[in-house]
Amino acid sequence: MKDFVAEDLAHIWHPCSQMKDYVDRNLPLLPIERGEGAYLIDYDGNRYLDAISSWWVNLFGHTHPHIVKAICLQAAKLEQVIFAGFTHEQAITLANRITALAPRGLNRVFFADNGSSAIEVAIKMAFHAKLNEGKTRPMIVSLTNSYHGETLGALAAGDVDLYKRIYAPLLFRTAQAKSPALCNEAEAIADMRRVLEINRDQVCAVIVEPLVQCAGDMAMFDPSYLKALRALCDEFGVFLIADEIAVGFGRTGTLFACEQAGISPDLMTLSKGLTGGFLPLSLTLATNAIYDAFYDDYAKGKSFLHSHSYTANPIGCAAANASLDLLADGSVLATNRIKAQRIADGLKLIAQIGGTANFRQRGMIAAFDVTGFSANDRVGVRIAKEALKRGIVLRPLGNTVYFMPPYIVTIDEIDRLCDTTAEIVKGL
Ligand SMILES: Cc1ncc(COP(=O)(O)O)c(C=O)c1O
Repeated sequence: MKDFVAEDLAHIWHPCSQMKDYVDRNLPLLPIERGEGAYLIDYDGNRYLDAISSWWVNLFGHTHPHIVKAICLQAAKLEQVIFAGFTHEQAITLANRITALAPRGLNRVFFADNGSSAIEVAIKMAFHAKLNEGKTRPMIVSLTNSYHGETLGALAAGDVDLYKRIYAPLLFRTAQAKSPALCNEAEAIADMRRVLEINRDQVCAVIVEPLVQCAGDMAMFDPSYLKALRALCDEFGVFLIADEIAVGFGRTGTLFACEQAGISPDLMTLSKGLTGGFLPLSLTLATNAIYDAFYDDYAKGKSFLHSHSYTANPIGCAAANASLDLLADGSVLATNRIKAQRIADGLKLIAQIGGTANFRQRGMIAAFDVTGFSANDRVGVRIAKEALKRGIVLRPLGNTVYFMPPYIVTIDEIDRLCDTTAEIVKGL
């Protein structure tokens, strides 16, 4: 059989990686031949339960036949068309469906092709909408420990030091208010008020990951904070951007996490699960009020002149529509509640093992920390390697172990995931 790893290392530079780790074989680099349901399968036929939904994207399992069919049909019909001056049925259908499902008031849909780009769009729209109203407000406020992507605007908005520190000289100025996941809620709200007051008339928007700061070690907070944040944004006349890229499409137990707070943001970003995890596509949803701020004669210079070559790619839109077909079956969220409870039960068993702490869960996202290790111990890498040996894909964030399985995971697979994780943690 081909030595795929050697061939890979000859040319490929992997994301979010120190390549020397692969060359030295400190980190596994596993060639995957195919996917099937909740499993990734290597060239020796070994099956790995994808407990992280392949970077949080997969909803209904790998190679789901309904989505595969939709992609094939669309590819044979119209694979791509420039989206300025042209339109197509898949994008129209998707926009209709998403605006019907999204929190009230988000009636306008702008397409891009990955999560970070959707964030760039939201930031630019927020700034530009205020500018079109005659206000120059170049600042974004986010939460400490937040993550919004890796492109420069998204990185500036985020606050995970590991990714941001080095590029700080390249980034536009933002401010952070305390995350309610890391202090008590009243303190977080007071801090947001303080930041908005200090930067009064400078801030165009506050951006938040509703309920779970996923890349921020799966830090979680309550819906009540979002309600208070919505009120603060209204009080200070700033837009609220909900980044539901990781938590959207049912991950936290409701279709969108904002629903649990009963709020509507002014802008909302979606990607990852949007296509069921098949293709890169993203959306920035906006209110009519924001849309209207740009709507004028071309010569007035108010237009939103942002684009990507693959904006609203028809095959990506077809995958998204097929994924929405599967989500439309009302039983998905109800079944997930049963599965989430089973994960909760499994976590209780893991909690009995010494050296674990901070158990937390929102719907189909669950996490805990292993204690007693420093960052240099890279305990997460050890856990990931042990999990692979046992046929499970885990990818801890530092000392945080988390589960975010595809929704088709079975009760038996959840039990195996929890039992195996317990065994690994015991052996550390
Ligand atoms: C909340 C959140 N926003 C934005 C992004 C960036 O998305 P992408 O990786 O598609 O650029 C991510 C990615 O993990 C995310 O979790």
